[in-house]
Amino acid sequence: PGRHGRPERAAQVLVASNRGPVTYALRDDGTLDARRGGGGLVSGLSAIGPDAGALWVCSALGDGDREAVRRGVAEPGVRMLAIDAAVHADAYNGIANSVLWFVHHMLYQTPLEPVFDAEFRRQWGAYRTYNRAFAEALAAEAAPGAAVLIQDYHLALAPGMLREHRPDLRIGHFSHTPWAPPEYFRMLPDDVAEELLLGMLGADRLGFLTERWAKTFMRTCPSVLGPYDVVPSWPKDQAPSVTVRGPGPAHGRTWIGVHGLGADAEFLRRRSHEPDVEQRMAALRDEIGAGRRVIVRVDRTELSKNIVRGLLAYRTLLDEHPEWRERVVHVAFAYPSRQDLAVYRDYTAEVSRIAAEINERYGTAGWTPVVLHVKDDFARSLAAYRLADVALVNPIRDGMNLVAKEIPVVSDAGCTLVLSREAGAYEELHEEAIVVNPYDVSGTATALHQALSLPDGERAERTKRLAAAATALPPQQWFLDQLHALEELGEGE
Ligand code: G6P
Repeated sequence: PGRHGRPERAAQVLVASNRGPVTYALRDDGTLDARRGGGGLVSGLSAIGPDAGALWVCSALGDGDREAVRRGVAEPGVRMLAIDAAVHADAYNGIANSVLWFVHHMLYQTPLEPVFDAEFRRQWGAYRTYNRAFAEALAAEAAPGAAVLIQDYHLALAPGMLREHRPDLRIGHFSHTPWAPPEYFRMLPDDVAEELLLGMLGADRLGFLTERWAKTFMRTCPSVLGPYDVVPSWPKDQAPSVTVRGPGPAHGRTWIGVHGLGADAEFLRRRSHEPDVEQRMAALRDEIGAGRRVIVRVDRTELSKNIVRGLLAYRTLLDEHPEWRERVVHVAFAYPSRQDLAVYRDYTAEVSRIAAEINERYGTAGWTPVVLHVKDDFARSLAAYRLADVALVNPIRDGMNLVAKEIPVVSDAGCTLVLSREAGAYEELHEEAIVVNPYDVSGTATALHQALSLPDGERAERTKRLAAAATALPPQQWFLDQLHALEELGEGE
């Protein structure tokens, strides 16, 4: 047996991601408290569960996780890597969240950012080390010919590194983010852009959430990999691929797949009727007040989610449609995310400031226009989903946005979705949603008014169709489709 009580090279199916299904907090009394990880990636992959027999390799993220690794505490089917904390911080905060996330979501304020200097180069070295640690762990755990599904922008180099160690494996990589347009991606230093793409193209198959992101990726390849012979191809009714030849070692063909992760209807419907959710519904109803319409949004407090413009749109609604005053409440849950980064902390403060300003300006003795909560609470999110008449999902750019898919499934009386055209979910949901340009605050206010004014019958009908589209590809099937596609590829392709 290997170091972890399992025989080495035993796993037939492996998943790798930075954030794993659980994260541990160290309590004052020295015990460890396990919590579910947040974000779309974990929501999607959690459906796999330990029963599927897959080994999930993830990173220790904080002191609690590191302590769990030290004590040998682990969930079944999960292996946490305690990579050096400084290396992890540079790779995760420095490169993944401050560079790659910003590139793919086009978040830079370009007159001053980005600056790729010596500090960036140092962090880039850590990103390589971090990816190598994953590649080595996967190489040690994977059975001959096993399937390995590597997740997201944190691990863009790992596929190529793993292939060097273990050419026998079937390697997949999945992007949970949008893909940047080639001209934006090319802000990255040329050698870094090239290394990232070649790292990903070391996989047999790359997955994206929508056709839009897959196509942008395919356009990026020839534009960055100038010295190579690059052939992207998307023949009608056949699988798309990117083929790369020389200079240097042969690369070959990488298949491209589109898998639009859907909501897990069965889990959500069951979970949203448990007693803790009912309790929170009662508490929320008290905060909202009887007989009022409810506009709900639930996000990580994330720069790309556009929470500030959403609040400004709500303020515009109250200004321009005074008939809604006292008759509507905006329930906004903005859960802390990536608080090591100053720009996220500032954004969080701005969200709270604007919500308070709206309440100050419009609130009355019996009416609080914005109910903002910032403490992460999954049961309370589900309670808000059930109460929603309108769901506001207005990101400036988003790989998918699972909240847009979850609310229509859970909402009790049906809800109208106000949806950004820049969210991946737009591809599947736009026909039944009220679509907005996320930068257009006036337009979003008008959309909120329309959504609130929709007759009950029409709202219910639309909700049914939204829920059907949102659950077309449940997480388990989403995962199995990718696994099967990978297993069907001949070895060495
Ligand atoms: C997005 C990313 C995921 C990430 C999640 C939460 O959904 O695609 O990879 O796990 O955000 O972000 P965090 O930095 O907290 O893991």
